[in-house]
Amino acid sequence: MKIGILGGTGPAGSGLAARLAARGQKVYVGSRDPAKAEATVRELVERWGPRMAHIEPGSNADVAAVAEIVVLGTNARATAPTAAEHASRLAGKPLVSMANAMRRVGSSFVPVPIEEGSIAQAVQKAAPQALVAAALHHIPAAALMDLDKPTLVGDVVVVADDLEAMRATQAMVSVMPELRALDGGPLENAIGLEAFCAVLLTVNVRYGGKATLRLMPAG
Ligand SMILES: NC(=O)c1ccc[n+]([C@@H]2O[C@H](COP(=O)([O-])OP(=O)(O)OC[C@H]3O[C@@H](n4cnc5c(N)ncnc54)[C@H](OP(=O)(O)O)[C@@H]3O)[C@@H](O)[C@H]2O)c1
Repeated sequence: MKIGILGGTGPAGSGLAARLAARGQKVYVGSRDPAKAEATVRELVERWGPRMAHIEPGSNADVAAVAEIVVLGTNARATAPTAAEHASRLAGKPLVSMANAMRRVGSSFVPVPIEEGSIAQAVQKAAPQALVAAALHHIPAAALMDLDKPTLVGDVVVVADDLEAMRATQAMVSVMPELRALDGGPLENAIGLEAFCAVLLTVNVRYGGKATLRLMPAG
């Protein structure tokens, strides 16, 4: 699988890049500034050595063009604009939004309302021909990056309207055996996934932990 990560220079994008590359995937780390992408890849190679054999830097434009599935690793505010900027290159491809829009109010996090309902829906509007999915909202960047961490276990709820987007995103998540990919229904349900992140971070602040999401049988 050729996986591209736009804005892959931040903690979430580079952590995801490292974990996917360590599992033998071809990963392209994108940036608005190719030199920044090169620096990120250099750091990953220095830290993780031969496990980073299949990772390459590039401009966001080149990465959007060459990848078979693209993840938007940009900060939340830049996610839909980045999809719009590269919409022609993303047409017909699975495009994964992992963005959570939230703000801190005192010791809590609260969701930032999005006109389209969710950032993922704004991404679909910005890149109408892309096959948009939303996933990976609740996996902490630091846990993704720590490749030797035995405790990264979690459920990744994937939402998408398009069947190919759902299948391709679940397949990408399943490359990481630590994570279980679950079908969470249509893209509209990204509203719940994105908003829940504010709840999760608030719980983490209250209890001083780094919890992620794991769904358990009720009975
Ligand atoms: N951090 C986490 O633990 C975590 C967990 C799950 C989901 N997420 C989500 O994953 C996404 C990335 O998180 P992060 O913490 O890595 O974010 P970040 O460090 O704030 O930003 C990631 C990248 O976004 C790009 N960017 C910043 N401003 C931009 C702009 N105006 N236009 C285009 N690109 C811009 C930058 O890349 P270049 O300068 O190289 O272009 C930057 O390295 C966010 O949407 C976040 O909600 C984060």
